[in-house]
Amino acid sequence: MSDVSQDNSRRRFLTAVTSGVGLAGCAAAVVPFVSSMTPSARARAAGAPVEVDISKLAPGQMLTVEWRGKPVWIINRTEAMLEDLKTLGDKLSDPDSTASEQPEYAQNPHRSIRPEYLVVVGICTHLGCAPTKKFEMGAASGVSADWKGGFFCPCHGSTFDLAGRVYRNVPAPTNLVVPPYSYVNDTTVLVGVGPQEEVA
Ligand code: FES
Repeated sequence: MSDVSQDNSRRRFLTAVTSGVGLAGCAAAVVPFVSSMTPSARARAAGAPVEVDISKLAPGQMLTVEWRGKPVWIINRTEAMLEDLKTLGDKLSDPDSTASEQPEYAQNPHRSIRPEYLVVVGICTHLGCAPTKKFEMGAASGVSADWKGGFFCPCHGSTFDLAGRVYRNVPAPTNLVVPPYSYVNDTTVLVGVGPQEEVA
């Protein structure tokens, strides 16, 4: 990837992260705390799980948080979005996610623990650009007339559906990665720790 592409990609990632719910304020508050840590404590914090409040995430909306330096998207999919996922199988490269990376508990048609909430790493599996959200349907999306919503990577044109599954005949080889995650309660997601795992 050229320097310009990398810069653009990084800029898109930073824009996406800082537009996440309440993150900007949190980051500002955390910096003095982090700088006072020992190197080993900083390393632990960098890999620490991230608790995310999804109580205000309305159907059809998405938020972005940072986990281990990566953008993680959480999308509250509508019933219609979930229905559309069932119609895309023959257009996808790995519809059952057998060749893609996700925890066992997310290897299902919606690639998630609770059907409505997708939790996925927002990094293209081709060369690591930041795909953009394309939730509009059809031609209005700017992707294609039969587009059912998903994500478009502007670097080389890879497309992903609303389960992060990659379409056929695009450069990205696999579906977007689903990270380990679990639910602390009905409205709180813990990114970085699976349902049966201990918090390190
Ligand atoms: S990085 Fe090449 S299509 Fe996304």
